[in-house]
Amino acid sequence: MANGKSKFYITTAIDYPSGKPHIGHAYEKIVADTIARWQRRKGAQVFFLTGTDEHGQKIEKYARRENRTPQEFVDTMVEDFRRLCRDLSISYDAFIRTTEPQHQETVRQIFSRALAKGDIYRGHYEGFYCVDCETFFLERDLAQGACPVHGSKADWVREEGYFFAMSRYERRLREHIEAHESFILPVSRRNEVLNRIKEGIRDLNISRANFSWGIPLPNDPAQVLYVWFDALTNYVSGLGGPESPLFREFWPADMHLIGKDILWFHAVIWPAILMAADIELPRTICAHGFIKVGGEKVSKSKGAVLDLGALIARYGADSIRYFLLREVAFGEDGNFSEEALIRRINCDLANDLGNLVYRTISMIEKYFQGEIPQEFHQAVPAAVLDAARSLSAAVDREMMEYNFSQALAKIWDVVNAANKFIEESKPWVLCKENRRRELSDVMYILVQAIRLVRENLSPFMPGTAVRIDEQFPGMTVRKSAPLFPRIEDAD
Ligand code: ME8
Repeated sequence: MANGKSKFYITTAIDYPSGKPHIGHAYEKIVADTIARWQRRKGAQVFFLTGTDEHGQKIEKYARRENRTPQEFVDTMVEDFRRLCRDLSISYDAFIRTTEPQHQETVRQIFSRALAKGDIYRGHYEGFYCVDCETFFLERDLAQGACPVHGSKADWVREEGYFFAMSRYERRLREHIEAHESFILPVSRRNEVLNRIKEGIRDLNISRANFSWGIPLPNDPAQVLYVWFDALTNYVSGLGGPESPLFREFWPADMHLIGKDILWFHAVIWPAILMAADIELPRTICAHGFIKVGGEKVSKSKGAVLDLGALIARYGADSIRYFLLREVAFGEDGNFSEEALIRRINCDLANDLGNLVYRTISMIEKYFQGEIPQEFHQAVPAAVLDAARSLSAAVDREMMEYNFSQALAKIWDVVNAANKFIEESKPWVLCKENRRRELSDVMYILVQAIRLVRENLSPFMPGTAVRIDEQFPGMTVRKSAPLFPRIEDAD
């Protein structure tokens, strides 16, 4: 890049605003935000895109249920998704809505490129369709005639329409995936996709005539474009379209972060669309696992399970960010429960981190009138300082592999070592015996350790980093309430 900085373009999936956002949406945004913040910390020029997927039969169905037009319906629903981002400190650069004119223009452009190439033709299609997934299933993939994801009845649908000749790209795509180790992450998912490709890629029906809430086909406005063709294109329209300066600066996407259920759309259909439009493929498609609540699957179509707004208001964004990143092994499914959240808050956040900061500040107030010692006399062992100084490298190593939980564990190793250091060096004894140089060194080490912990923690818990800063203004300390009050009862 012109300014010598590396660039990093990261996207989340765009959410269906057919219901309120759920914990799965929150999780995906938290992960993407943590990566984006970490990349910025490393000096990259980051563009972080999120948004909402507002067309399609499913939205039309939910709007009708509420006696609203689809546009009125999504205009209301989108606010909950924006609020979720605000409440969770999601530092996106753009929020794309697929009903925006600029997005629709980009979709028409991409469609027209594929059409001009001869990749779109008329035909007919029959199959089992699940409206909640907006996708066809083979009979053998149904669960007793019902959608394997939603459990709702999959209808037999026959459709005349336009097809995208995706099968033409089968070989190129397979070769691309085989040649690019990190095109699909984690690797286990890459193999899943490759195996499915080997069973054959079928052309995709990309037009719908049985409902109208979508983008009309440029060549046949009586039909609307299949919602996935429309939705996937957000990753290009979110930068302003294939001819925009932002697109030139940030494409190809460095990471499309998505859930495991929509990997096929991103790892096969999207690359085929891009090939048809002569656009470079994204670098990495990274699929995370599913969050269950109390062991149960959550899904909007089945109704919201958990009031996210209330949860964030009660426990704070950073506690929830910490919990999900620490508790879930990235790539695998995880479980959310309020009891487990409270345990993490009381133990890791209140006891370990909160106490470290609170005790350090109290001691500096008591022993040094609030002035932070600025000099290290080497009068006490500096093992904690060394550990804190190598923290950044250790966290980076874990982050390169998207091991969020391990990265946080490394940070907590330093937090715990610092707490242990307080116990072992007994500042209260040093004070009583007037061993000022040693006392000063202990405080010096603790403050340095807290600063480095704060640095490394900031992508995960940005609000906490700010609150730590506020307590260490310049060369002094300023005590405030504990960072994380203990939660005493779970009701
Ligand atoms: O799929 N745990 O929208 P969506 C973790 N509009 N992640 C979950 C989850 C859970 N329980 N449930 C859903 C769509 N997700 C499309 C995407 S992209 C061009 C179009 C994830 O609202 C899901 O895997 O159903 C997806 O990545 C995102 O949340 C939005 O899901």
